[in-house]
Amino acid sequence: MKSKMLVPSKELVQDAKAGGYAVGAFNAVNMETAQAIFAAAERENSPLIIQVTQTTMAYTEPEDVAAVIFNLAERSSIPVAVHLDHGRSFGVIMRFLKMGFSSVMIDGSLQEDGKTPRTYEENVAVTKQVIEAAHSLGVSVEAEIGRLGQIGQDSGVALTDPDEAAKFVEDIKFDGKTVDMLAVAIGTRHGLFKGKPIIRSDRVKELADKLDMPLVMHGGTGVPDEDVQKGIEAGICKVNIDTQIRVAFYDRLLEVVTEKEKEYAEADAAGEPRKYDIRKIIAPTRDAMTDAIAEKMRLFGSAGKA
Ligand code: G3H
Ligand code: ZN
Repeated sequence: MKSKMLVPSKELVQDAKAGGYAVGAFNAVNMETAQAIFAAAERENSPLIIQVTQTTMAYTEPEDVAAVIFNLAERSSIPVAVHLDHGRSFGVIMRFLKMGFSSVMIDGSLQEDGKTPRTYEENVAVTKQVIEAAHSLGVSVEAEIGRLGQIGQDSGVALTDPDEAAKFVEDIKFDGKTVDMLAVAIGTRHGLFKGKPIIRSDRVKELADKLDMPLVMHGGTGVPDEDVQKGIEAGICKVNIDTQIRVAFYDRLLEVVTEKEKEYAEADAAGEPRKYDIRKIIAPTRDAMTDAIAEKMRLFGSAGKA
């Protein structure tokens, strides 16, 4: 572990389970998103899971983003888990373990292309392999069973079946130990919803009763606050948020660009040279992301729990 505040996510979600709240897991894609995530956690005195998704690899080298995150973790005063989100293959998991991540998700529900479903047996095989590697390093593991999606809107939605999930957590055991938390399909989807979503907190309750392990809500953006709270009461201990951060960034960026356009028009009219400064455009978006993340931490009940 690179910092005394860097912890396996297992510790954070177990505390959340015992305390009846959820830890937010927020996606970082660059320095500013990582800074916003840490700033919100510090401000709210909240435990934190900061995550990098496998798809970031198509944008930049994840090692570069990880370096920023580990620097921030080093200086941080709140407990933080650094988590790989939606790892799709054993090779990718190994790359992130090598970077020093304290937590990984193996998303065995889909194949490496992120689209084609894996069979139950394939999901079991890859998840078990990851548990063996990660646990030997003291790193926590999240797995997924079922297929995320909006009920009545997306094709291929498969809500997590409690009996299948119970069999899954048994079948993936390595050396008597299973995953540390399980991502479940309960009517959420990644990105924004079409209309009002139907979130099955009754299904969360059934799963929690049967499995007695921390459950994870993916696609936390756009889930109505009361459904988030019902989900947490029923057994959700980690809520993933990505799109909400992007929305906060984009909305503020548009405002800043509009303000700049006005300023430049005035400068042009006065015959003055325009002043360009990337920092003055980006800094307000970072503040807006911090506010959006802090609001979620208060909603999840993790604020004040660091
Ligand atoms: O794994 C990441 C998420 O599940 C985030 O979903 O973009 O809908 O917030 P979201
Ligand atoms: Zn997700």
